[in-house]
Amino acid sequence: MEENIDHICEECRTKTAIHYTNGDSFFGPRLRTINHLELGYSKVLTNPFTIFLELLYVFYKKIRGAVSRMIAWLFPRRDRLYGTDLDSAVVGRLTFAARHELNTPIHGMKLELWARTRLLRQWRKLSEGYSDNDGTFSLPFEVRSVRNIRMAKRVHLEISEITNVFHSETEPPKPHYTLFHSIPLSKGEFIGMEYTVGAVQLAFWEYRKDAPTPRVVIKDHDEDAPEYYTKGRTDALIQQVIPIELTKLSHLERIDLEKKKMVKDKLTIQAIQKAYPENLTVCIEQRKPGYTRSDAWFGERMMNGMNKGCFVPDAENPSQYWMHYFGICNYAANNEYALPTASVKYALTSKGLPIPIEIHLVGQLDAFNTDPWQSRIFTPENAEDWLAAKRVVRTCGAVSTEIDEHFTGTHINTEQYAIAAFRNLRQNPVAWLLLPHLKEASLINHSADKLIIEGYLPTATALKTEGIKARTRDILGMQDWYDWHPMKPISEAHSYAKAEQLFWEIVGKYVDEFFAEHESAIKQYWYEIAAFSNDLVNHSVPEFMPKGALDGLSGREHALALQRKEYYCALYRFNPDAERVTVNGEIKAISRITTARNFAEALPEDFDRLKSACRYAIMTATFLHTWINEHQYDDLGEILYSCGGLRFGSEKRGVIAPESDLSIAPDLTRSTQMLWFTNLLSRTEYGFITRNEEGDVNPLFIRLLKEKEAEFTALGVDINAIESRTNI
Ligand SMILES: [Fe+2]
Repeated sequence: MEENIDHICEECRTKTAIHYTNGDSFFGPRLRTINHLELGYSKVLTNPFTIFLELLYVFYKKIRGAVSRMIAWLFPRRDRLYGTDLDSAVVGRLTFAARHELNTPIHGMKLELWARTRLLRQWRKLSEGYSDNDGTFSLPFEVRSVRNIRMAKRVHLEISEITNVFHSETEPPKPHYTLFHSIPLSKGEFIGMEYTVGAVQLAFWEYRKDAPTPRVVIKDHDEDAPEYYTKGRTDALIQQVIPIELTKLSHLERIDLEKKKMVKDKLTIQAIQKAYPENLTVCIEQRKPGYTRSDAWFGERMMNGMNKGCFVPDAENPSQYWMHYFGICNYAANNEYALPTASVKYALTSKGLPIPIEIHLVGQLDAFNTDPWQSRIFTPENAEDWLAAKRVVRTCGAVSTEIDEHFTGTHINTEQYAIAAFRNLRQNPVAWLLLPHLKEASLINHSADKLIIEGYLPTATALKTEGIKARTRDILGMQDWYDWHPMKPISEAHSYAKAEQLFWEIVGKYVDEFFAEHESAIKQYWYEIAAFSNDLVNHSVPEFMPKGALDGLSGREHALALQRKEYYCALYRFNPDAERVTVNGEIKAISRITTARNFAEALPEDFDRLKSACRYAIMTATFLHTWINEHQYDDLGEILYSCGGLRFGSEKRGVIAPESDLSIAPDLTRSTQMLWFTNLLSRTEYGFITRNEEGDVNPLFIRLLKEKEAEFTALGVDINAIESRTNI
C-alpha cells in the first residue's frame, strides 16, 4: 500500500512539475511587463486591433533599438584616451541627492570625459577615473584636445554604474557599466588649470523614508528605477502568465455578471479549480481520494513541502516535536478571517516522517466568540474536528510561510543587501560575487507591494496592510548573517534540511574559492566593504524583542512573546546573544561586518565575517527563496486544501467545519486570485544557476552545484530549478 502511494505521489510530482515553453503567437494576447499586472484586470490586450497597435509599438521599439545600434556603429566610442599633455582637470564631488544624504559621498563611481568632433561627430575620450572615498574626483585632460577648433562646443562628463557582472570560464569577471548620469559642459569655460563642476548630487539607490523596512526608492518602474528587468526575464514572464491571466479575467468578468444578475449558472469553486493547471494535491487526490488530507501527507508536507517547518523538541519528550505558526498576535487585523496561533505536536514514524498527534489553536475560530486568547486542543480521536483543525493549521502555515519566511525572510531580506551592495560595491571584487545574485530583488518587491501587500493579502487573510507591514519589520528584526547555519535534519526522512545543508556547503566553497582568488583586491578596496557594512547596519530594522524588551509584559502576553522569540531564534537561526550595534538608540538586527576603513586597521576576524555575510546573502537570494517560491503551487494550488485564510462563516462552529461548508472557504474572487498568484509566482521563474541565461553566474558556482547533482536528485531536488536570484 505504501509503495503504491509513493508511486502515485511521484507520478503526480512529475506530471504537475512546471516546464518552460517558448510559445508566442502573433495575434495572441499580450502583456508588457510584470509591472502591468493587476490583482483585478491587468492590462492584457485581447482585442485584435489593440494587439495590432501594441505590436506596432513593439516594432517601433525594435526600430529604435536598431537605430541606436547603428548610431553606435557609426559613432563608436573607442577605449582610447586623447591628449598627452594633461594640463587641466575636471574636478567635483559626488554625493547622494536625498536631503539627509547631501554629505554622504558616492565613492568608486566610474567617470569619463567625452567630446565629439564638429564634422563627423566622432567621439573622443579625454579622461577617465573614479570618484575617491570622499566622493571627490579629478579627471586630468589636455586643454588643447578640447579647445581644438575641430571639436564641438559640448564636453560630456559621464557617470556610470555597474548594473551586472558577466562571468566566463576563460576571462576574469567583467562588470557591465551603464550610463547613470551625463552632465554637458561648455568647452568655452575650459580655460584654466581646473574646471570645477562642484557638488554633483545623484538620486542613486536611495533608501525610502516611508517604508518600515530598508527599501529602495522607485519613482517609476518603467522610467526611473534603480535597475530594470532584462528582456529575457520579461519575455519568460509573459509567456507563462498570459494563459492564467486570461483565466482569471474570465472568472472576474463572470463574477461581475453574476452580481448584475446577468447570468443564471453560478460559477463554482470547483469550476475555478478546474480552469487552472492541475497541481500536486489535486492530482494525488484524484488518484487516491483522501490521502492529501491524511496525517501522513500533512506531516510530510510540513517537513519537506513549501513550509519546510521548524521542529523544536518537546521539553519532556525529546523524541516528539513542536511546530508553531503565530497568528494575529498584536497586528492590525480584520474580522472576516481566522488566523489563530497554531501549534502542532508531532511524533516520528519508523521512517522518520512526522505524524501530527496534537493541535493547539489559540485565537478566534468563529464569528461569535471574539476572545483572542481562547484555546482549543484537537486530537485524532475526533476525526471530523481533527480534519478541520489540520486545514486551519495549513492556512496559518501558509500565512506564516508567505509573509514571514518568503516575503520577509527572502525578498525583503535580500533587498537590504542589494541596496547596500549597489550603493557601495564597485571596484572591490565582492561586487562581482554579489551583484548577480542581488539584482532584481528590489523590482519584484516593488511589484509585490502593490499586488500582494496592499492588494491580495488584506482581502484574503486576517491581516490588514498596516498589520502586514508591522509584521515584516518584526520578522526582519530576526534575520542576520552572523552565526546563521542550516537547519539540522531531525531524521533520515528530513530531505529539506539535508538539501539546505548541502547547498550551504556549496555556497561556502564558492565563496571561499572566490575570496582566495581575489584576496588582495578585496583587501585593497576594503573601504567599500566598510561602507557596505555601514549602510547595512545603519538602515537595518531593530532587533525584534531584544534583551529586556519583554520585561514590561506579564501573564499570557509575556508567555506568547517569549514563545515567539525562542521559536523565531530556532526558525531563523538567529543568535540573540550576538554582540549587536546600537544606532540612534536602536539595537540593530544585522551584525556589523567591519568598522575599519582600510584593511590594515581591520580586526583579524573581519575578513571571515565578510565571507560569512556574502555566503548568507547568496544563500538567501538563491536556495532559500527558490524552495518556497517553486513549491507554492504544490501546497497552495488547491482552494479547499489550503489558502491564506478561512472565513468565520455564519455557523457557531466557525472554521472547525468540513470542506463542504463553502461559507468558510475563500469567496470566488479570492479563489481565482489565489490560483492566479500561485501559478504566477511558481511558473514565471527565470534566471537559474545552471541554465545561466544571462551569462552572469560564476562558472565555479555552476560546477560546484553540478558536482552534487546526484545527491540533490536523491533528495528530490532538481538543481536546474534553483534560481540565481530573487526576482519573482
Ligand atoms: Fe518569491
